[in-house]
Amino acid sequence: MVITCWSVKGGVGTTTVAVALALAGARPSADRPSPVTLVDLAGDVPACLGLPEPSGPGVAEWLDAGPEVPPDSLARLAVPVGPGLELLPRGRAPLVGPRGPVLLQLLAATGRVVVVDAGTVDGAPVARAFAAESDRSLLVTRACTLAVRRALAAPVRPSGLVVVRDPGRALSTADVEAALGAPAVAELAVDPAVARAVDAGLVRARLPRSLVGAVSALLPVAAA
Ligand SMILES: Nc1ncnc2c1ncn2[C@@H]1O[C@H](COP(=O)(O)OP(=O)(O)OP(=O)(O)O)[C@@H](O)[C@H]1O
Ligand SMILES: [Mg+2]
Repeated sequence: MVITCWSVKGGVGTTTVAVALALAGARPSADRPSPVTLVDLAGDVPACLGLPEPSGPGVAEWLDAGPEVPPDSLARLAVPVGPGLELLPRGRAPLVGPRGPVLLQLLAATGRVVVVDAGTVDGAPVARAFAAESDRSLLVTRACTLAVRRALAAPVRPSGLVVVRDPGRALSTADVEAALGAPAVAELAVDPAVARAVDAGLVRARLPRSLVGAVSALLPVAAA
């Protein structure tokens, strides 16, 4: 199961949602399949997790290496984050090359829950490939007219919306759903506790309650 979080506008909370999904998914629970691989295509995940910047190669170098890379090379790139959670870092090179769909297939075949922070989809083609072809394609957006306009012009249609609600918006979540023709699968409030936890590097230690509540329903449930 590959769940890709993406956006059409910067700074809406995409990385935070992806990180919260991965942390919530990795929590031991009877009805959740784990473990989780968190794939960083945008580069902010280590900072959001309060981790040092990984110094080794990442997705960018894997894409750059071409089809000759050994079969276990992806697994070797993974950095352990904690019980049940590993990070596939972005790496340093530009995200180029045609192997995005191959990467997606390999990740899907691991049997792990794979959560991807694809960032804004007007960037690297690999981000577009993940947003277009993942099992769940989640557009993280504010209820904002400008964001809706951009989403309508985006090259990808989401399967679901994660609406980050800041106060005073004229548009309701239902308005955004109607405009984009996709269901809001999660709604979360702009919560100062979230911003504080991210800034302090404490998201791993204490995932804010508002995030857990919002993202838990997005995770797959294990077959009984
Ligand atoms: N629900 C929330 N409540 C309060 N603050 C939030 C929330 N979600 C994210 N933030 C804060 O907003 C800022 C931007 O969040 P984040 O980096 O996740 O956005 P992004 O969409 O990934 O940005 P970029 O486009 O730059 O990758 C961060 O400081 C983060 O702590
Ligand atoms: Mg981001």
